[in-house]
Amino acid sequence: MKNMMKQKRNERRTKSKSLRYREVTRTLLFTVDIAKKVGDHIKKNATRRKYVHYKGEVDLVTRFDKQAQDMIVSELIHKYPGYGVLSEEGVHHNEKAPFKWIVDPLDGTTNFAHGLPIWAISIALEIEGDILLGVVYDPSSQEIFTAIKNRGSFKGRKKISVSRVRRLSQALLVTGFPYDIRTSRKNNLNHFANFALRAQAVRRLGSAALDLCYTACGRFDGYWELKLSPWDQAAGYLILSEAGGMITDFKGDKFDIYGDEVLGTNRFIHKQMMDVLKLKT
Ligand code: IPD
Ligand code: CA
Ligand code: CA
Repeated sequence: MKNMMKQKRNERRTKSKSLRYREVTRTLLFTVDIAKKVGDHIKKNATRRKYVHYKGEVDLVTRFDKQAQDMIVSELIHKYPGYGVLSEEGVHHNEKAPFKWIVDPLDGTTNFAHGLPIWAISIALEIEGDILLGVVYDPSSQEIFTAIKNRGSFKGRKKISVSRVRRLSQALLVTGFPYDIRTSRKNNLNHFANFALRAQAVRRLGSAALDLCYTACGRFDGYWELKLSPWDQAAGYLILSEAGGMITDFKGDKFDIYGDEVLGTNRFIHKQMMDVLKLKT
């Protein structure tokens, strides 16, 4: 009798687990649909004139960032009215809710404003501080990167994993520079110089979300950056972690999407990169 009850309980647990997984998968597919719909719309309708406004000396926003945000946020709120939304261009909706969407409606705005086709849409779902799913869509290449926590990362339908490069001297790295580059001493130029002298090469693409996804699928071996915002890195963080990557702050401590430092690698070169980040000049 006791055994039967135990078996029933286990069956119920398995059932509810797979039901939860089915629900998460449905939510992911919904998120993918939005990212693709909005990304393709923006790409198709972006005019040569981008209607640029400056948020800071070098930090810009276009009419299309806002248009993408309106389209994404309205769909999310319509389908999930109880969830919170944090989105770059000023949306702070129901932020105390345990479930929260974190949205970068257009990551790589400087590229986009100049007609350089390296930009993406990034959407993540955070549950009580944990990222449950992440989607990054690049409308120029039509590549879509996705991940669900504990279920791996994908580019389209293909599972992806990080590179196996073991030496920093053979590694292709990527980074970015903060918007206060002209006024702050913590502007990443010293780290850039240190890595340029030690890695195979260093790139600067201009989209943190794509930097993380490209590291996740092995195009880059390591990525570091300072002073990002949660929307730049929430989806990419999960995609890189689920692809077998390691992601921490510069000291190797737990990564926080609300924190100031990101170091994401294929694992093998993590310690070597941490050592370079410790150098003073
Ligand atoms: C920027 C990009 C860039 C990074 C900047 C971000 P935005 O996002 O991700 O790669 O270096 O710090 O702010 O402004 O284009 O959404
Ligand atoms: Ca961004
Ligand atoms: Ca943005």
